[in-house]
Amino acid sequence: MQEIKFIKAETLKQKPTDESKLGFGKIFTDYMFTMEYDPENGWHNPCVEPYHPLSLDPSTSVLHYGQSIFEGMKCYRRADGGLQLFRPRDNFARMNRSADRLSIPQFDEELALEGLKKLLEVEKDWVPHNVGTSLYIRPTIIATDAMLGVHAAHHYLFFIILSPVGAYYAQGLAPVGIYVEDTYVRAVRGGFGFAKTAGNYAASIKAGEVAAKKGYAQVLWLDGVEQKYVEEVGAMNMMFKIDGKIITPMLNGSILAGITRDSVLKLAAHMGIPTEERRIAIDEIFEAAKNGTLEEAFGTGTAAVVSPVGELCRGDEKVIISNNEIGETTQKLYDTLTGIQWGTVEDPFGWIVRL
Ligand code: PLP
Ligand code: COI
Repeated sequence: MQEIKFIKAETLKQKPTDESKLGFGKIFTDYMFTMEYDPENGWHNPCVEPYHPLSLDPSTSVLHYGQSIFEGMKCYRRADGGLQLFRPRDNFARMNRSADRLSIPQFDEELALEGLKKLLEVEKDWVPHNVGTSLYIRPTIIATDAMLGVHAAHHYLFFIILSPVGAYYAQGLAPVGIYVEDTYVRAVRGGFGFAKTAGNYAASIKAGEVAAKKGYAQVLWLDGVEQKYVEEVGAMNMMFKIDGKIITPMLNGSILAGITRDSVLKLAAHMGIPTEERRIAIDEIFEAAKNGTLEEAFGTGTAAVVSPVGELCRGDEKVIISNNEIGETTQKLYDTLTGIQWGTVEDPFGWIVRL
């Protein structure tokens, strides 16, 4: 494996003193991991170096054509002070799947993990201590060719930045209201909905603004062909508990294969709760809400963790779920998942990587 260089920072930042005010993704640490790609050397020059602004030519291809991918994961502090990661190899494997779709060269996942570990070793004091806080990890790759031709770039930058975070939603674990989007679509068949790439998020911003004006935290996307079937929410996969069973949209190429989604499905099965991955019509959800069989709804994601959904709104129609309170199963899954992530519950799945 290539040797990872270290460049020491001359000055260090002041760490946040009030961990209850961290919010999400507003503060960044002292160091970042970087490596570069060019056709002669492949991925090379892995380095932990001081966090710094990037200098990019105005013609840099990522700024014009969006050849960029990213990941989101977290480093957790256990009660004994030790640090741990949750399924980091799954994130780097997904990043390479996104890379493939965006014609970005594959990288060595073990080297990326080593780079992350080295970065975290230097930045360990940035991992917050309060319950529910963590150090959010954002690996990213951008195309850095200075050229305006529409084709795969020849040069790329891989970087990982770190941000101490609290809850993703301002309301914490309280149920969120979600607006069912019926005008815009996020991804289409054959597109890159399954990839974690900038364009998917760019496509979602306007709908998010419209929903926010109506008082909703996020948008629930429907399929891009008929706008009939549930896809996912802006930053999380969706799950519904109907008649005792957890159902979630199957991976169809247009939604992200969430690592939290996969973990919750495995946890639910472990707890003896039946699960099903299939196509789900939005009409079925509203119907179940009306006839009383929709017991709970929640989203899953690294940033969002397990987030109860208390209200769904579609046009003029609104349904309240689980009395707009966190449901029993949602709470149980939240407690077990976060228990494994923060090290208070045993991990029977081999998901935890201790640092
Ligand atoms: N769907 C989208 C669009 C997301 O951005 C995320 C967040 O990463 C998820 C789902 C959940 O994925 P994961 O559980 O891997 O964080
Ligand atoms: C994550 O959960 O890691 C995400 O990437 C969500 C997001 C803030 C886009």
